[in-house]
Amino acid sequence: MTLIGDDQNTQYNNVQDCIIEVKGLHTQFGENVVHQDLNLCVHNGEVLALVGGSGSGKTTLLRQMLGLETPVHGTVKVFGCSRFDCDYNLLKSIRIRSGVLFQSGALFSALSVYDNVAFPLRELHSLNESMIRDLVMLKLAMVAIDTKHANKMPADLSGGMIKRVALARALALDPELLFLDEPTAGLDPELSESFVELILTLRTEMKFTIIMVTHDLSTLSTLSDRIAVLADQHVVAIGNLKEVCDHQHPFIQSFFKAAHSQTKLAKIVRR
Ligand SMILES: Nc1ncnc2c1ncn2[C@@H]1O[C@H](COP(=O)(O)OP(=O)(O)OP(=O)(O)O)[C@@H](O)[C@H]1O
Ligand SMILES: [Mg+2]
Repeated sequence: MTLIGDDQNTQYNNVQDCIIEVKGLHTQFGENVVHQDLNLCVHNGEVLALVGGSGSGKTTLLRQMLGLETPVHGTVKVFGCSRFDCDYNLLKSIRIRSGVLFQSGALFSALSVYDNVAFPLRELHSLNESMIRDLVMLKLAMVAIDTKHANKMPADLSGGMIKRVALARALALDPELLFLDEPTAGLDPELSESFVELILTLRTEMKFTIIMVTHDLSTLSTLSDRIAVLADQHVVAIGNLKEVCDHQHPFIQSFFKAAHSQTKLAKIVRR
């Protein structure tokens, strides 16, 4: 892995700053080796973007951070606690401190907007329906969804509204950690921009750490503090957008330079 900027010094020495620490990760499905000796530190309060080709294991890595998938070897520590050998109650408390916006199938299609956002609150078994109602309305307001849409079903919503409701559900428990898997995929440029602005505003207000998978350069440049590039089964480069763009790995060259003209890229990097 190439560590760029001051990460060279902080990646492993300053582990107390790692809200998520991945060490020596090896993931394999049958013959398919997805991660090999993958190491990564997510700093408290940052927006870290994961970039990589299709099938490079970005979603799998998020699922491992969430404790939904177990690797063959290696450790994933979240809030200092190992994802794969901590007790049930600790795991549950970590889950409560994490919000997720999944890559696809963001909402439960059989539940209304209201019930989707209420779902994680009801799972707590500690809030009455009146408290749940207040919280659902608050979360919908935070993502600029009018309460008149609360009884609609996901099939009746536009793509942009689905993402916003999914974000409201991810924020239901006031998470410290927010996982976003391709948050702007499928949105047109205007909707994508307004969704990114919304996440930026919420981040300023709620001060969470964000781990985000995206291939969208505009989302990357607007939201991310650092970018980790997954290729060859591990993190080949990590740093800010400009630092990563300058890296000579062939995937990085084709991802950042072939997809976008030099001029457009230079404009984004200068922002
Ligand atoms: N449960 C599973 N069983 C078998 N193979 C799996 C499983 N989950 C993921 N894989 C395989 O692991 C590899 C990485 O998958 P993953 O979904 O993490 O990639 P990705 O980087 O998120 O790709 P994309 O950009 O297309 O979303 C793929 O080859 C996928 O087919
Ligand atoms: Mg994926």
